[in-house]
Amino acid sequence: MFLNSLRLRLLVWLVGPGLLLAASLLATKYYYMRNAAEQVQDRLLAALAVSITNYTVTTGGDLLSRDMEMLLHEFTHEDTYYHVTGPDGAYVTGHADLPRPDKSRVLEPGTPFFYESVYLGETVRAVALRSFVSAPYLEGWTTIYITQTRRERQELLGTILVNTGIAFLIVVAIGGILAWIGITRGLSPLEDLRTAIRRRSPDDLRPIEEQTPAEIAEVVHALNGLLTKLDRSITANQRFIADASHQLRTPLAALQAESEWALRHARHDHERETLEGILSHARTASRLAGQLLKLARLAPEGRKTLDLASLDLKAFAAEVTGEWVGRAIRQDIDLGFEGPDDPQASAMVLGNCVMLREMLGNLLDNALRYCPSQSIITVRVIPATARRGPVLEVQDNGPGIPVNRRAEAVERFVRFNGEETEGSGLGLAIVKEVAVAHGAGLELKDSPDRQGLLVSIAFPRPADARLAASLPSPELARP
Ligand SMILES: Nc1ncnc2c1ncn2[C@@H]1O[C@H](COP(=O)(O)OP(=O)(O)O)[C@@H](O)[C@H]1O
Ligand SMILES: [Mg+2]
Repeated sequence: MFLNSLRLRLLVWLVGPGLLLAASLLATKYYYMRNAAEQVQDRLLAALAVSITNYTVTTGGDLLSRDMEMLLHEFTHEDTYYHVTGPDGAYVTGHADLPRPDKSRVLEPGTPFFYESVYLGETVRAVALRSFVSAPYLEGWTTIYITQTRRERQELLGTILVNTGIAFLIVVAIGGILAWIGITRGLSPLEDLRTAIRRRSPDDLRPIEEQTPAEIAEVVHALNGLLTKLDRSITANQRFIADASHQLRTPLAALQAESEWALRHARHDHERETLEGILSHARTASRLAGQLLKLARLAPEGRKTLDLASLDLKAFAAEVTGEWVGRAIRQDIDLGFEGPDDPQASAMVLGNCVMLREMLGNLLDNALRYCPSQSIITVRVIPATARRGPVLEVQDNGPGIPVNRRAEAVERFVRFNGEETEGSGLGLAIVKEVAVAHGAGLELKDSPDRQGLLVSIAFPRPADARLAASLPSPELARP
């Protein structure tokens, strides 16, 4: 039998033998009780055989068998019939048609012989007793046969059997419930382990340190071995991507510099056109290489060595925004910064300023890239409260991203603008990685009062930051 649940299997193996035990106890009990009842009946029959024989002798066979039988019925609640034969088997008194033991059976004088038979359609217990009498009316060897039904005995046995059976079933059921509770408790380390594994972020490949009973420890040990191997191989891959993109940057920078030089010295228009194309591609490629390198550094492995320092988000965001104002003016876009009015308001976070600059830079680059001229872009810092850390927002009134594509937008190499604008589709992926590395929650929302996109990054309180950064990556809000 295959049961796909450890709990059910254990239960079956506990309750099954319990039922078996109960059944065998019941059978044994029935057997002994039936024997005991039979013995009692046999003794009664033997006593009856002796006394009826004596009566027969004293009354010369005139005893009214029907009275005797009614009297017996009164006392025993069973139908009792008898038949006495005199020497040579001659009829003396009683029911002549009573069943008798096998002819071949030799009855020993004075020893009652018990047998089973059927009389008047009912199974009966019967006795035959041979004894020597010597009386004026009767002299010689007489035999008495008595049959008695065992209705009441059977009924009683049946009742006891049913009641005991019910009692056993109740005991087994209670045992089953207790076993179920016990099994659930016993298996709780498995549940704990499952929760611990579920709560893991996919990036977290540290060994599982859950305290587990010996039986599960083996499995956990094996799993940890696998995790370590996986961690090593992912690290190697990440290092490869970082190295490769790093190696690519030098020749790409050279290519860019050389094509710029050639462009300056180009004489013909068609040369210039070609060189401009080469330069643009070289720029895209080197930006891509740079972004790949950043992503590789932000990957779980790199994150472990990420230096986090206490940082004033308000001052930091204001400074970075300032650096982008020039480009905004050139594009005729209104780029502004909103910080908390209260100078006491805390916007401290535990962060890595190089990474945060990259993150905000990517968000501003997107906003400036995808918003038409005369748009409004706002960078906002909302101070921390007692419950949560500060929030950084970048809001624009550009085309926005449809709700159903927002989760997808933060994936690597996902772009919605095709070839119209340059870009790699890595910008928001980097934003997400930086947020995760800081234990911050990233959300893409609608701008509340204007169309466009609102990107919000909710930082943990500095006290929770270390913890939060090692917790599962906050899921991007999905519609
Ligand atoms: N502020 C924004 N307004 C409208 N669309 C945006 C905005 N930011 C990002 N997007 C969309 O999300 C896509 C992914 O952005 P990103 O990951 O930065 O890649 P890239 O900018 O290289 O295309 C972009 O192609 C763009 O279509
Ligand atoms: Mg971008």
